[in-house]
Amino acid sequence: MALTLLPTLNAALNATSAVLLVGGLVCIRANKIAAHARCMLGAFVSSTFFLTSYLIYHAHVGSVPFLGTGWVRPAYFTLLLSHTILAVVIVPLVLRTLFLAGHKRFAEHVAIARWTWPLWLYVSVTGILVYWFLYHANVAEACPGCKEALFDPGGLPQRLSAARGYALSIGLLLLIPYGLVGTLTALIVRAHRRKLRGESRVSDARRIASH
Ligand code: HEM
Repeated sequence: MALTLLPTLNAALNATSAVLLVGGLVCIRANKIAAHARCMLGAFVSSTFFLTSYLIYHAHVGSVPFLGTGWVRPAYFTLLLSHTILAVVIVPLVLRTLFLAGHKRFAEHVAIARWTWPLWLYVSVTGILVYWFLYHANVAEACPGCKEALFDPGGLPQRLSAARGYALSIGLLLLIPYGLVGTLTALIVRAHRRKLRGESRVSDARRIASH
């Protein structure tokens, strides 16, 4: 396979992991344990292929420079840094989560999975965004003269279209991944609190019944 196709393959593998992770959560919420396990193992295989292909590509090509200029540069590097750090962090988390499931230690599995799942999804989604920004949406090329148009006192249509270009880029680069992870974390924490409250209600009921 041509080396130039590998970045696209990598993004596709990240997308596959993201879809399987969401599918796996939906399955376990519906109490479908076998389907949950299949989805999660599928995400694991897909992420392992990604890591292998990523390493092969960068061993041949080295690092690919980001050519965007202006505000998008620090935004891109913040995204890349958070993606890279968490990509390293999730490796032991994923292995431990799988190990606990494999040994049927499900209480511990759920406790660690509450971290593994959102972080893994974050890494997969930001992996796609990094690819997109690096290879397809170099903002400097995608929107030449955007900055000048935005502050051009004469041309309202140009200013509007430049503002739209910026809004789209900011949305893709920052709001989608950070918003996604924030929302998911909030949902998981809420579900966890509800579960704890449910459990304490059960123990309260037992205590009352025993008197
Ligand atoms: C690294 C891969 C995995 C991740 C990230 C993961 C993630 C999760 C999460 C987030 C939950 C809690 C869902 C909730 O909040 O209601 C959960 C529960 C569960 N998972 Fe996994 N899972 C993985 C692999 C597996 C595998 C391979 C099995 C194999 C049987 C499995 C079996 C279960 C079971 C039985 C529960 C429910 C436990 C309970 O509620 O007592 N998981 N998993």
